[in-house]
Amino acid sequence: MSGVFRGVVGSAALAWSVAMGVSLMAQTPALPQSLPAEAKKMKAAFPSSPAALDAGKQLYGKYCRFCHGDTGAGDSKMAPKTMQPPNLTDQTWTRGSSEGEIFWIVQHGAPPKYDMKGLKGKITDQDTWNLVHFVRSLGGVPKS
Ligand code: HEC
Repeated sequence: MSGVFRGVVGSAALAWSVAMGVSLMAQTPALPQSLPAEAKKMKAAFPSSPAALDAGKQLYGKYCRFCHGDTGAGDSKMAPKTMQPPNLTDQTWTRGSSEGEIFWIVQHGAPPKYDMKGLKGKITDQDTWNLVHFVRSLGGVPKS
């Protein structure tokens, strides 16, 4: 092997490993293992209303129903078999049921596995709050 050839192979290998490193970094966003404490303290930007629930329902149909089911009961036949979307109409909220906690999950996804991805950048904050109000109207959140 000539020295020149070895040099070319070497720099190609270096370029490849740099590119891999960059793409691995891009694929591993710094998402936490559980919700950050401040999520719970966040308050909705506006209160629930018939208009918010209506908008939330439309968004739910578009972004959530195929996993969480028509009524939110977690019984959709279309959900990927590799995951178990929870029932959003019962009293069990593994990650919390406050406005801010649900907002965080819709934006960032469901930790720790993130089988459910977040919609940050795809929908506005206003639509995220519309979804929060709709999800909290499904019956599982205790009235305060
Ligand atoms: C690809 C399927 C999928 C989609 C789409 C999806 N989810 Fe989820 N969702 C899940 C899974 C799976 C979990 C739970 C993950 C786990 O337990 O590891 C989850 C968890 C949640 C939780 C937390 C529940 C709890 O008890 O902690 C909420 C709230 C939630 N989803 C709401 C939504 C909303 C609102 C949408 C639409 C914007 C949505 N999800 C879209 C699959 C999905």
